[in-house]
Amino acid sequence: MKAAIYHEFGESEVIKYEDADKPAISSEEVLINVKSVSLNQLDVRLRSGKSPRPVDLPHIGGIDIAGVVSEVGSNVTGLSEGDKVVVDPTVRLEKGFEVIGVNRHGGLAEFVKIPARNVVPIAGGLSFDDAAAVPICSVTAWYGLVERANLRAGEKVLVHAAGSGTGCMAIQVAKYLEASLIIATAGSDEKLEKAKELGADEVINYNTQDFAEEVKKITGGKGVDVLFDQIGASAWEKNIKCLGNKGRILLVGVVGGVKADLMFGPLIMKDISVLGVTVFNAPRSSLEKALKLTLDKYIKTIIDKKFPLSETAAAHKHIENRAQFGKVIINP
Ligand SMILES: NC(=O)c1ccc[n+]([C@@H]2O[C@H](COP(=O)([O-])OP(=O)(O)OC[C@H]3O[C@@H](n4cnc5c(N)ncnc54)[C@H](OP(=O)(O)O)[C@@H]3O)[C@@H](O)[C@H]2O)c1
Repeated sequence: MKAAIYHEFGESEVIKYEDADKPAISSEEVLINVKSVSLNQLDVRLRSGKSPRPVDLPHIGGIDIAGVVSEVGSNVTGLSEGDKVVVDPTVRLEKGFEVIGVNRHGGLAEFVKIPARNVVPIAGGLSFDDAAAVPICSVTAWYGLVERANLRAGEKVLVHAAGSGTGCMAIQVAKYLEASLIIATAGSDEKLEKAKELGADEVINYNTQDFAEEVKKITGGKGVDVLFDQIGASAWEKNIKCLGNKGRILLVGVVGGVKADLMFGPLIMKDISVLGVTVFNAPRSSLEKALKLTLDKYIKTIIDKKFPLSETAAAHKHIENRAQFGKVIINP
C-alpha cells in the first residue's frame, strides 16, 4: 500500500510518499480503507520532533481518520466489511492510553489497523471529510467548554486562534450552548471575517490590537466567563486580564510556549479556575455528541483545503504557514 511516512524528524520534506506493508490485523482489530484524514497541529509537532509525546520512527501519522471497514478480526462483532466508520483515536489500556497516529501508526496510508472498540459507525449522510474532522477538534471544543468549563447559557466566552481547526469548533459549540457573547481572536482580518460568519459577535486581531484592552472595552470592564486558550504562555498575562470574576480558563494549546509566571494575585482575587484540557481524556460520549451535532448541522466542518496522500508534506507546510481557516484534509 502507499503511505506518507517519515524516517526522521525535521521539516515537512521528511515526509515521504512510499510503499509500506499493508497491516495484518489481530482477532480484535479491523482494517480500515482510509478515505479521509484531517490534520492537526499535533501532527506537525510530532513530525518536527518537538512534541512532548514522542513517536517511534519510522512513523505514519494521521490521528483523525474516517474510512470503510475492509477486513474484520475473527472475534469482532457488530462491524462488517463495507461499514463507514470514524476512529476514536484514544486506545484506553489497563494503565493509561495510547493514541492512534501517535503511539501507533495512523491513517496517512491506504489502510490502517484499528482496535474494533475504537471504531464508531458514521450515521446518516455524514461525509468522510466531515466525520474525520470531529474526533480531535470538535471533541476538544465540546469536552473543554461543556465538561471542563461547564459553560452555561448567557455566559461570555473568548476563543483564541479562531482560524484553527479547534477554534472554528469552539465558536460553534459556544453558540450552540447559547453563550451571550462570543469574542474571537485571530492573526488576520480575513480570518476574523470568517469567524463572524461562524457566530463570533466581536472579533480582535491579536497581531494589530491589544486583545486584553479590546476585551475590556467590549465587556465594559467585566471580562469574560470562559476563555478557550490555544496559545499558552505568550498570551497568559493578558488572558488573566480578560477573565471576569469566577472566570475559567481552558488550557488547550501551547503554540505560544509552555512557561509563564503564574500571577497568584489576580488568580486569587478573581476566584479564577485554571483548567487543563486533553482530548485524550474525553469520554466516548463526547465523540458521539460531537458527531450528532455535526450530523444535525448544529456545527459544521470548515474545510480549508484538501490534498491527496502524495502531497502530505505540502499539507503540513500549509498548516505551518498559518494560512488555514478550518481543517486541512488528506484523501488517500
Ligand atoms: N489539549 C488538547 O486536547 C488539544 C486538542 C486539539 C488541539 N490542541 C492544541 O490547540 C492548538 C490548535 O490546534 P489546531 O490543530 O486546531 O491548530 P491549527 O488548525 O493548526 O491552527 C493553529 C493556529 O494557531 C494560531 N497561532 C497562534 N500563535 C501561533 C504560533 N506561535 N504558531 C503557530 N500557530 C499559531 C495560527 O492562527 P493565526 O495565524 O490566526 O494566529 C494557526 O493557524 C494547538 O496548540 C494544539 O496542540 C489541543
